[in-house]
Amino acid sequence: MRTTPPGRLILLCGLPGSGKTTLARRLATELPAVRLCPDEWLTHLGIDLYDEPARDRLERQLWRHAQDLLRLGQTVILEYGFWSREEREAMRLGARTLGAAVELRYLAVPLEELHRRLESRNAAGDWGTAPITRDLLDRWAMIFEPPTPEELAGYDA
Ligand SMILES: Nc1ncnc2c1ncn2[C@@H]1O[C@H](COP(=O)(O)OP(=O)(O)OP(=O)(O)O)[C@@H](O)[C@H]1O
Ligand SMILES: [Mg+2]
Repeated sequence: MRTTPPGRLILLCGLPGSGKTTLARRLATELPAVRLCPDEWLTHLGIDLYDEPARDRLERQLWRHAQDLLRLGQTVILEYGFWSREEREAMRLGARTLGAAVELRYLAVPLEELHRRLESRNAAGDWGTAPITRDLLDRWAMIFEPPTPEELAGYDA
């Protein structure tokens, strides 16, 4: 029986505007890797980026797809943002169960810089991105649970 080398999962964690999609595009070419970006899938499917139930369903389906790719030895990048440790933990354990390595890349960017980036992205109206107001970002920043050094130590380099 042919054995396939285990894949590698890369979780991109950070608030909107922190540069997840920008980094994922670069890594997808450099590594190479398969990039799974819910915002782009929702846009292709004609679904509002603020439709939370649809986003939840899509993210679950993309996670199933990611696991299939990991079983085939691929490197997969998930751009979900991963605001909570609980969410990150579920991915970490799922990937490890498959024998895959897991990286957590946390994009820590000061709130003022996020505001600046989103203001210019909103103005450009880039395809596959949601317009995000200052007020919304401030509220999300309160909910966001940054990874601690202890949590980061539980991942592969
Ligand atoms: N390292 C960086 N320095 C300066 N600007 C950046 C950097 N990375 C990304 N940007 C710019 O910031 C904006 C937001 O980046 P990007 O869309 O990659 O963020 P994101 O984390 O994917 O956001 P979202 O969660 O909304 O999808 C873009 O206009 C991008 O060009
Ligand atoms: Mg993005």
